[in-house]
Amino acid sequence: MSRKFFVGGNWKMNGDKASLGELIKTLNSAKLDPNTEVVCGAPSIYLEFARAKLDPKIGVAAQNCYKVKGGAFTGEISPAMIKDVGVHWVILGHSERRWVFGETDELIGQKCAHALENGLGVIACIGEKLDEREAGITEKVINAQTKHFADNIKDWSKVVLAYEPVWAIGTGKTASPAQAQDVHDKLRQWVKANVSEAVANSVRIIYGGSVTGGTCKELGGMKDVDGFLVGGAALKPEFVDIINAKQ
Ligand code: G3P
Repeated sequence: MSRKFFVGGNWKMNGDKASLGELIKTLNSAKLDPNTEVVCGAPSIYLEFARAKLDPKIGVAAQNCYKVKGGAFTGEISPAMIKDVGVHWVILGHSERRWVFGETDELIGQKCAHALENGLGVIACIGEKLDEREAGITEKVINAQTKHFADNIKDWSKVVLAYEPVWAIGTGKTASPAQAQDVHDKLRQWVKANVSEAVANSVRIIYGGSVTGGTCKELGGMKDVDGFLVGGAALKPEFVDIINAKQ
C-alpha cells in the first residue's frame, strides 16, 4: 500500500503579513516534489491571507477549531468558518493546545468529530512527554491519545496521524530515526488491532519534533514515517528541502 508523503508546516503564533508573504513567495516559486502533499498551518487571523497567496497546490490548515458550529464561544473559530475562507485542514490535539491551554483528550476528540463531520481534514497530534518516555509508558500514552481520536473518526481517509514527542518539539532534540520508526510502527499496529488492517495500511503517520533539512531524509526513509509536521523550520526556506525529502 503506497501512502502519499505528507509534509505539514505549523507556523504556530509566528509571522506577520510581510514575513509570511515572503515565505509564501519562496514556497510558490520553489520546485516542490509533486508526490508530496503539502499543507501549511497558519494562525487563524492569516488563514484567508495564506489561502489567497499560496499556490493552490499547497493546502492550508487552521491550527485549532472549536467543537460546535457557532455560538457564544468568544475567541473560538468553527470548522464552518475555516471552510468559509477556503481552508480544508485543521491541526487538532497539538501538544501546545494540551499542555499550554489545557485541552483534554475528550475535548480534542469532540473537536475531531465535528471537524470531520464538517468536511475538514484533520491532522491529529499525539505524543508523550519526557517524563512519560523516561517512565517507559510512551506506548500507553500514545495509544490512549489515539483511542480518543479513533472513537471520534468514522472516515479515516481525511485523517493524518502526527506523532510529536513533546520532548522533541522546539528543543532541537529530534527523535532518532529508530525512535520515530519504533513509535510509528506501534501506532500502526494499534490502528490495525483497533480500527482495521486497511486503515492501518493507508493512514499517513507523520513525525514532528525539531525536523530540519539535515534530519528529514533519514527520518523520511523509515518504513512507517509518512511525512512530517514541521514547526520552526517551516518558517524558513529550508522547509522546501523538507518537502523534497523523498527526492
Ligand atoms: O507541530 C509541529 C511542531 O510542534 C514541531 O515544532 O519547531 O520542533 O519543528 P518544531
